[in-house]
Amino acid sequence: MTLRKMAVAAAVTSVMALTMGSAWAQSKGVVGISLPNKTESRWINDGNSLVAALKEKGYTVDLQYANYDVPTQVNQVENMMTKGVKALLIAPIDGKTFSDTLAQAAKRGIKVISYDRLISQTKNVDYYVTFDNYQVGVLQGQSIVSNWQKRGSKSPINLEIFGGSTDDNNAHMVYAGGMSVLKPYIDSGKFVVRSKQLAMDKVATPNWDGATAQARMDNVMSAFYGGARLDAVWSPNDGLAIGIISSLKGVGYGNGGQPMPIITGQDADLQNVKAIIRGDQTATVFKDTRQLARVAADMVDNSLAGKTVTINDTKSYNNGAKIVPTYLIKPILVDAGNWKKALVTDSQYYSEAQLK
Ligand code: BGC
Repeated sequence: MTLRKMAVAAAVTSVMALTMGSAWAQSKGVVGISLPNKTESRWINDGNSLVAALKEKGYTVDLQYANYDVPTQVNQVENMMTKGVKALLIAPIDGKTFSDTLAQAAKRGIKVISYDRLISQTKNVDYYVTFDNYQVGVLQGQSIVSNWQKRGSKSPINLEIFGGSTDDNNAHMVYAGGMSVLKPYIDSGKFVVRSKQLAMDKVATPNWDGATAQARMDNVMSAFYGGARLDAVWSPNDGLAIGIISSLKGVGYGNGGQPMPIITGQDADLQNVKAIIRGDQTATVFKDTRQLARVAADMVDNSLAGKTVTINDTKSYNNGAKIVPTYLIKPILVDAGNWKKALVTDSQYYSEAQLK
């Protein structure tokens, strides 16, 4: 940002503060929310649900998206602190980057909640709310195994693996969960990874970027699949699955003679649910972000009021400085067999019309 732009931004902010002054005075205080980016629909849904849940409880909300840029995210959080937030909800791009900032937050008595992604290397995180990320990986692995069994368990099949971003703890949890299911099949030769790219550092996708996954899938196909069929792809989320599907369509998969491989995902993004209905993607993992937002809003409200905060996990999330008291929500596998029940009838996460 140039100095001029910064001055304009500061002026706009103070005008906002003045015009919103009366609203802020009546509210229970301002809660700062910092989310990684606006390019993935899940974070937009999270933002909307958090604003609604916190407003309902009487808070004013300062919601910022960091455009997948670490310094931007740290600056945004520091600005929120300067403006006097009472609590912070942060889904970090890089979990390790908040130690100094949160030391300041602790001094000011600001409550800090790690939202969906773990903030690491600092004691100054009060609570963590997330989905059971290990279980997300387990569900993805199980879906590959059960679809392989449905297709007749012909052995061996060719599998390729993608990982999330290594600066996001969730990527490692999902990888560990999936490997707990898939490794025995790989070790026994039932699932063959022709690229031999297996370890997290070989399969990771910086910033969970779909275009990067697409480029890697292109390379793997041209280097290792001349004449061979790819039967399954373990994709850790829906954004990557879109890139992988595009790559595979580019080399002829997805038509009658050459059906798509088994492909997993995570988030139940609208376009991926449509891909499941069409048959381009096999499964996704549904994580109801409305529920995540409700639990996060309760955590803010109860911790600020000095009331008991509900947690259900006190051992899984060691952030390098402490074990963060956590509330874990259950993820749900969604595929062609249950999308309507899980996403429309039971949860009303989508209307049927949206999925047409
Ligand atoms: C979230 C996923 C999301 C990914 C990429 C992870 O931390 O848990 O839901 O797909 O980040 O944004």
